[in-house]
Amino acid sequence: MLGVADTAAFVDWWRREWLPGFDTRHPAPGAPTAAAPAYTEAQLLADGRRPERMRIAELDAYPAHLHIDLLPEAQGHGLGRRLIATLREALAARGVPGVHLSMDAANVGARAFYDRLGFVELPSSTPDAPLLGIATE
Ligand SMILES: CC(C)(COP(=O)(O)OP(=O)(O)OC[C@H]1O[C@@H](n2cnc3c(N)ncnc32)[C@H](O)[C@@H]1OP(=O)(O)O)[C@@H](O)C(=O)NCCC(=O)NCCS
Repeated sequence: MLGVADTAAFVDWWRREWLPGFDTRHPAPGAPTAAAPAYTEAQLLADGRRPERMRIAELDAYPAHLHIDLLPEAQGHGLGRRLIATLREALAARGVPGVHLSMDAANVGARAFYDRLGFVELPSSTPDAPLLGIATE
């Protein structure tokens, strides 16, 4: 699991500190391979150059954002629930009111997990990319 407490500040840092090196390292998508289809790599590079996509309308209520990915053997044992609880506690201790995430609409297992934990769908969601949020306490 990883995340940031202040997405707006992270976007500023990304553009200022990280994007110049990213541009130099990845001037253009490489040749497509079976492991990295052209669309995926091109999309990743396009997204990398557009950090402002993370400035969602709901940042006042959900300033933090998170990613969580457990290896298959670690799934289904309550670790995801515990990790989310730990992050929410740490954010609440810093005075951060809420945390959000964006996800692939096709990931029905993850959606069931977030629904179970009490995440709600945010108004700026799109059908392909749901945005979910939860208060930290
Ligand atoms: C999604 C993920 C983080 C969930 O973590 P986890 O440790 O497997 O989930 P937990 O065991 O903590 O489950 C917590 C609750 O969610 C429910 N849940 C979890 N996965 C579920 C699923 N696929 N379908 C239905 N319910 C599910 C559990 O039943 C459990 O309910 P309970 O605590 O009330 O009994 C983890 O499975 C994962 O990393 N998956 C692959 C990567 C991924 O999809 N990441 C999310 C990208 S947006």
